[in-house]
Amino acid sequence: MGTIAVLGAGKIGEALLSGLLKGGRAPEDLLFTERHPERSAELEATYGITGVTVEDAAKRADLLVVAVKPQDIESLLDRLSPVLRPETLVVSLCAGLPTALFERRLPSGTPVVRVMPNTPMLVGEAMSAVSPGRHAGPEHVRTVTELLSCVGKVVEVPETQQDAVTALSGSGPAYFFYLVEAMIDAGILLGLPRAVAEQLIVQSAVGAAKMLDESESHPVLLREAVTSPAGTTINAIRELEKHGVRAALLAAIEAARDRSVELGRAHED
Ligand SMILES: NC(=O)c1ccc[n+]([C@@H]2O[C@H](COP(=O)([O-])OP(=O)(O)OC[C@H]3O[C@@H](n4cnc5c(N)ncnc54)[C@H](OP(=O)(O)O)[C@@H]3O)[C@@H](O)[C@H]2O)c1
Repeated sequence: MGTIAVLGAGKIGEALLSGLLKGGRAPEDLLFTERHPERSAELEATYGITGVTVEDAAKRADLLVVAVKPQDIESLLDRLSPVLRPETLVVSLCAGLPTALFERRLPSGTPVVRVMPNTPMLVGEAMSAVSPGRHAGPEHVRTVTELLSCVGKVVEVPETQQDAVTALSGSGPAYFFYLVEAMIDAGILLGLPRAVAEQLIVQSAVGAAKMLDESESHPVLLREAVTSPAGTTINAIRELEKHGVRAALLAAIEAARDRSVELGRAHED
């Protein structure tokens, strides 16, 4: 994979750099760019990696990971385009930006792979979906999959499915946080101290996530195993159904997908 440069070492960029180091990559093989000198110094001191300019990163790296906010992309591409070697693999973590935008602005033939990660990358448990652009082949997808495997799981999808992915796993952690928040409120309603309610629910979430991950069973079967006849859980399920929670989730995720499509349109020709 050679030298990897992360352009924009904010939350996601730093999480990736940290994961790459934990995964055994040598600090000498990692570069990053940052706009603020104090942030650069902090990252250099913490990780022993080198902060460089965008132009230097383009000259020295074999693989560039773009991790700036979508609103900063135009100015970044303006700087990158004149100096990028066309064989350099460009990996975009920018939500909603199509590979076509990069292909239009970068030297002709530049391989681009689009990735939708999510914030559990910060704890090495990201779900990332990768999609190759027009000039990226299976070998580029393999390289990016290997790169991202050090910070979580990776799946390949056609780029047309990236809006659905954004709505499902990109925003997904927020839905779980929302659910946990509401369940803690329920504990408080039932008279439990907040700290106790929080511990009960967070550990239940961790345990349930582990069971989902490790068991071969479908979520329906795992739920049925906790739902005994005339028991407490089925009473709760009846209320969830009565309040349309399943329909609310379908509508919410569809709305997130629609917003992703809308945001993507802003970057069309
Ligand atoms: N956070 C998420 O949940 C999430 C999930 C999926 C995808 N993403 C994508 O990941 C990307 C990064 O998100 P983030 O949450 O990590 O944002 P962030 O914390 O704001 O990080 C972006 C970093 O890039 C720096 N930057 C901007 N333009 C630059 C330039 N020209 N040269 C060098 N550095 C530059 C920013 O500096 P300043 O501080 O000066 O702005 C900032 O430190 C976004 O495109 C987002 O869509 C994020």
